Amino acid sequence: MKKLLSVLLAVLMVFALVGCSKKEEGGEAADTVKIGVAIYQFDDNFMTLYRQNIQKYFDDLNAKGGTQYEITIVDGKNDVAEQTEQVNTFISQGVDAMIVNLVQTSSPALAQAVEDSGIPTVFINREIADYKYGTKTCYVGADARDSGTYQGQIIFDQPNHGDLNGDGVVKYIMIMGDPENSDAKFRTEYSIKYLTDNGVAVECLYQETGMWDQAKGQELVASALNAYGDDIEVVFCNNDGMALGAAQAINAAGRTVGTDIYLVGVDALTECCEMVKAGTMTGTVLNDDQGQATAACESVLQLLAGNEITTKVNYVPYVMVTAENADQYIK
Ligand code: GAL
Repeated sequence: MKKLLSVLLAVLMVFALVGCSKKEEGGEAADTVKIGVAIYQFDDNFMTLYRQNIQKYFDDLNAKGGTQYEITIVDGKNDVAEQTEQVNTFISQGVDAMIVNLVQTSSPALAQAVEDSGIPTVFINREIADYKYGTKTCYVGADARDSGTYQGQIIFDQPNHGDLNGDGVVKYIMIMGDPENSDAKFRTEYSIKYLTDNGVAVECLYQETGMWDQAKGQELVASALNAYGDDIEVVFCNNDGMALGAAQAINAAGRTVGTDIYLVGVDALTECCEMVKAGTMTGTVLNDDQGQATAACESVLQLLAGNEITTKVNYVPYVMVTAENADQYIK
């Protein structure tokens, strides 16, 4: 009798164990990883490509089977209060990890809330100056100084180093991104620095912020062309979105890129690479949306695996794009 009982007990235990592991295999908690992605603004050409790449990275992983990643991407609408609420919602829902593209980098308040939550998080695209990342956070972006330097170099490489009318001074206008953002600051500074470091005399006729936006870029360049006319030799735009707007304004004013004016941007949007190839834009700089998105997703996986990212600030390189290599970046 005793023997029978112990055999029965053993059989029951085996059943219980099998039952448990079955539950874990099929259960939500064990197999679905929830990732919250907060983008500063959906209505941004470059960040649209970026978030599509993030989605695709995890879609591809999900298609392989195994752990499934549930990605929720939200639009901060360039509004600090809206984004703060979105990130706090991710935190209170207890997502497993986050990718955060901050609206505001001049204040570390939201980043601090993320740190305090202890949720593994990768910050992307907008660097917080002098920020000390914790053990579960890091940053993926690009060194904006380089993108500015390449823009300056593209102009320096033109006949007369950009001085189209040969009067000894390169007269330019600068269309800036959001001035709160280090990309805008560094591109504005380093594009001109390259020229002056190489002995080129420059004069800024006009500098305004177009907030990374095509329509605003068009408006600003149209009004600058109206005010300064043929004096403008170079149009520097902190990104390609605004350069697309600038190109429209340049055409409308009857000016011709490559002949009587130069135009440069940053991002290497396909549309702009086609223009660079055709000569209707002087050059751009590859801001590697795919490379950065991949690095960000890989960092998330590392953090989820419990590994600390030792390179707290991970810069993906920019590439100078001119008529010679533009073909390579047309997607
Ligand atoms: C820059 C990019 C811009 C804009 C901005 C948003 O890196 O060149 O087009 O997307 O990020 O922060």
